[in-house]
Amino acid sequence: MKEARLVETLRAVADRFSPAALASSLSIEDMVLTDAIARAGLPIEVFVLDTGRLHADSLVLIEKVRRHYGIEVAVYAPDPEAVAQYTRAFGRDAFYQAVELRKRCCEIRKVEPLGRALSGKRAWITGQRREHSADRARLSEREFDAAHGMEKFNPLAAWTELEVWHYARERRVPYSRLYDQGYRSIGCAPCTRPVLPIEDARAGRWWWEQAEAKECGLHVAPDGRLVRANVSA
Ligand code: ADX
Ligand code: SF4
Repeated sequence: MKEARLVETLRAVADRFSPAALASSLSIEDMVLTDAIARAGLPIEVFVLDTGRLHADSLVLIEKVRRHYGIEVAVYAPDPEAVAQYTRAFGRDAFYQAVELRKRCCEIRKVEPLGRALSGKRAWITGQRREHSADRARLSEREFDAAHGMEKFNPLAAWTELEVWHYARERRVPYSRLYDQGYRSIGCAPCTRPVLPIEDARAGRWWWEQAEAKECGLHVAPDGRLVRANVSA
């Protein structure tokens, strides 16, 4: 049921909001979406924001996706001058020192490149799920992203972690080896760590920060409010 609905949603996005794009962090959710798009042969671009701090396993998976599905994966990198300035001023890993420096790093390495990736698009698709965190609990499958002036679709909003993995196993979807090492959420290497099965799936993201600070700026609510990445750890 959910799989059929997923393909229906993606097809409708491709038909009605072309050009549309999937933002892929190489997470298992984004791999399921990539699989559904590729199987149905839908004209939806897949792009990755390569922050320059992704795990090597994520970079390997980009190549694997290209080979496995025979599709293009667009890669957007941060402005090298902005990265160099940050590093000169604060140090490459200054995000551990203060929330503001962490947010600035996310702004340079993720948010600004996202703006470029979405330029000229009419809709974007994400792998966000309601189960991810309390702040995503009321996530809609479709919302208007006022920050980028376009529709935003979260087709897996109502899927459980188990359903995502069930799809991945059934369809033999390539996935990041990090999951075999205890990761349950995929972000930048220095800002993500494995979690225990009893922990929140996103507890390994920015684990040194207070829960209420955990927002990276990629996802802004329709009212302009920043959507927090996680609230329980
Ligand atoms: S984040 O906002 O805290 O980074 P999370 O890692 O849960 O979010 O990812 C949610 C969705 O944001 C992903 O399914 C994907 O659509 C998008 N996303 C996150 N990181 C990236 C990335 N590096 N490249 C492209 N899309 C990303
Ligand atoms: Fe920088 Fe960490 Fe944000 Fe990645 S997640 S952009 S390394 S602060």
